Amino acid sequence: MKIGVIGSGNIGGNLGKHWAKAGHEVLFSSRHPNELNDLVRDAGGQSKAVSLDEAFEAKADVYLLATPYMAIDRLSELYAGEYGNKVIIDATNPYPERDGEMAKEVKESNRNASEYTAMKFNTAKTAKAFNTIKAEHLKDRAWRDQDKLAIPYAAQDQDSKDITQKLIEDIGFDAVYVGDLTKTSIMDPDQKLYGKSVNRKELESLM
Ligand SMILES: NC(=O)c1ccc[n+]([C@@H]2O[C@H](COP(=O)([O-])OP(=O)(O)OC[C@H]3O[C@@H](n4cnc5c(N)ncnc54)[C@H](OP(=O)(O)O)[C@@H]3O)[C@@H](O)[C@H]2O)c1
Repeated sequence: MKIGVIGSGNIGGNLGKHWAKAGHEVLFSSRHPNELNDLVRDAGGQSKAVSLDEAFEAKADVYLLATPYMAIDRLSELYAGEYGNKVIIDATNPYPERDGEMAKEVKESNRNASEYTAMKFNTAKTAKAFNTIKAEHLKDRAWRDQDKLAIPYAAQDQDSKDITQKLIEDIGFDAVYVGDLTKTSIMDPDQKLYGKSVNRKELESLM
């Protein structure tokens, strides 16, 4: 698959490296793609660094959203319309102390964080995944043959569900489906599944 990584830090950088190792074509992007050369070198395979415009213009099969939550407003303003039918895997979390007023408003609204992303990107293909795992576990605990870490995920439609499940399993995690986006409150910061590095059985007992 061709994967556009939007935000290539702890989460986007590590996931992109895993996906490149799994044989996917990875486009790492950020506002400063010239700073991503070391990452591209580490990732190897078919990876490269591109601008945000280039990432969306590349018409990837799927996009990973791994920026600070506050970036969603601007990114969706720039890219939602034209690229609105793409699968977007949302790994972001709203933290008012980092992301300001918009994150506070989302937390206080009757929409959970992933429903806000789906609404802003105006896509029927939004999924939520990789937002509950600690960055160091994402980095070090992939590629297990047994006692795999479980990654909870939610999806808005069959296409985003299938793609997200595959991209979780391709890198040695166990994909545990939570439901559609209305069910993702338990994945949000400080909720039941947040920060839990456990196997499928343990994760399912928390749901
Ligand atoms: N760290 C964790 O343990 C963890 C775990 C699960 C989920 N998350 C969530 O995942 C997201 C990313 O976290 P992270 O720890 O990976 O952050 P990070 O290491 O700070 O990386 C953020 C990336 O996004 C880019 N970026 C920042 N503002 C942007 C904008 N306005 N437009 C486009 N790109 C932008 C940054 O590059 P430039 O500044 O050069 O653009 C950088 O590549 C957050 O929402 C976080 O809550 C984090």
